[in-house]
Amino acid sequence: MAHTVPDIKHKNWSSQWLFIMAATGSAVGLGNIWKFPYITGENGGGAFVLLYLACILLLGVPVMMTEIMLGRKGGLSPINSMRKLVGIAKASPLWTTIGWSGLLAGVMILSFYSVIAGWALAYIPMMATGTFTGIDAEGSSELFGALIADPWRLILWHSIFMLMTMLVIARGMEKGLERAISILLPGLFLLLLALVGYAYVATDQFGRALSFLFNPDFDALLYTQNADGQTIFNLEGILSALGLAFFSLSLGMGSIMVYGAYLPKESSIGEATISIVIADTLVAILAGLAIFPIVFSYGLDIGAGPGLVFVTLPIAFGNMGGGVIFGTLFFVLLVFAAWTSAFSLLEPVVAWLVESKRFSRPNAVWLSGGIIWLVGLLNVLSFNVLESFHPLSFLGEFKLAQQNIFGILDYMTSNVMLPLGGLAMALFAAWVLPSAIVSKEFNLPEGCVTYRTWSFLIHYVTPIGVGLIFLKSVGLI
Ligand code: PFF
Repeated sequence: MAHTVPDIKHKNWSSQWLFIMAATGSAVGLGNIWKFPYITGENGGGAFVLLYLACILLLGVPVMMTEIMLGRKGGLSPINSMRKLVGIAKASPLWTTIGWSGLLAGVMILSFYSVIAGWALAYIPMMATGTFTGIDAEGSSELFGALIADPWRLILWHSIFMLMTMLVIARGMEKGLERAISILLPGLFLLLLALVGYAYVATDQFGRALSFLFNPDFDALLYTQNADGQTIFNLEGILSALGLAFFSLSLGMGSIMVYGAYLPKESSIGEATISIVIADTLVAILAGLAIFPIVFSYGLDIGAGPGLVFVTLPIAFGNMGGGVIFGTLFFVLLVFAAWTSAFSLLEPVVAWLVESKRFSRPNAVWLSGGIIWLVGLLNVLSFNVLESFHPLSFLGEFKLAQQNIFGILDYMTSNVMLPLGGLAMALFAAWVLPSAIVSKEFNLPEGCVTYRTWSFLIHYVTPIGVGLIFLKSVGLI
């Protein structure tokens, strides 16, 4: 059945600069400040960072250009943009799966993203009132443990974060998104710089953090210890680098596509991409430079996993001069970063409901936000009541078998849906959409170096790179 493409024109961003800010706000989030440090810590540092940077440069940049281009050409939510492009290219309607899988991934990601952002919200008053002053490692673990063991507290903070996000999106482009982002993003950069300065001044471990981040040790990446204490070869770290690159740049699920749909025609996609990617990468590195010196100077566990910034950092903040202020600022920063990313996770669903189901914008926000809030409850329970509930345990050896609901949603989105979504976008733009249309949308002549580099990367490097890493790490080759 052929679906009609709605004849709706969305409002554009007021300027290319606002698009860059909004897309940077989407990219910079928990992925940079919460995930990047703990995953880098778990994978031994420098070698992982190098691989992450390679994924960003060789796969992230061309895929981001592609995703923005597809969005701008389509001008609609990812599902309807893909429908429109399928019509233009006279291609199989199966390609619209890109839009549907993106919609699903957005719901899945925001449902746990909001719970983690809720932890950060909960930490703001705790930090500000000096709960952590003079605390030791045990005390800090206990406080974090008590928070995540209490479903009611988690539900409260998860609900507040979802409401904050929904209120901004419901107010629309200019009054909601643009206004919030132009305050939050500069605030975020200032806070981060202040924190790096603090880590530099207040600890003597800055050099060690630099060498941890930039001295590659490939053994630390490729070998891990199994449950029996034996050292085993393990490619999971490589898939994690790829997944984190896509997650951190918000690629492969339509967030960037829908933001691209609102980009004025004369803006340069290449320039915008470069600015967004540089800002995102810089924030991840700076977050590492704010966090690792503190972790090292207190001899804390660098491989602590998702609790890294919630258990380890408060110990440091609780024992340092100015810790109450800087600790509070850190969690405010985390909330700002998560908030501007959450906008872009909600927008694709909302745009689709407005276009195809004729909802008013506020109603679309309440419905989609309500559903995501409900799914979020399963994530809340994954940290307490349902912590050891492994719904996929029948998968035996496979990594997903030992994961609870949160673990499954996180793994499936970052390591499967986003890379495969990005791969499908690349294949569509490279092999299906006529190159005359593509080069016109990029405002680039087909013979110029930028276009030819993009074209080479997207025809060959992205499919082979993403395909190989993916198949190898899930054990299919
Ligand atoms: N890029 C965000 C982060 O690093 O936290 C998360 C994210 C936002 C992922 C939007 C995917 C997405 F579509």
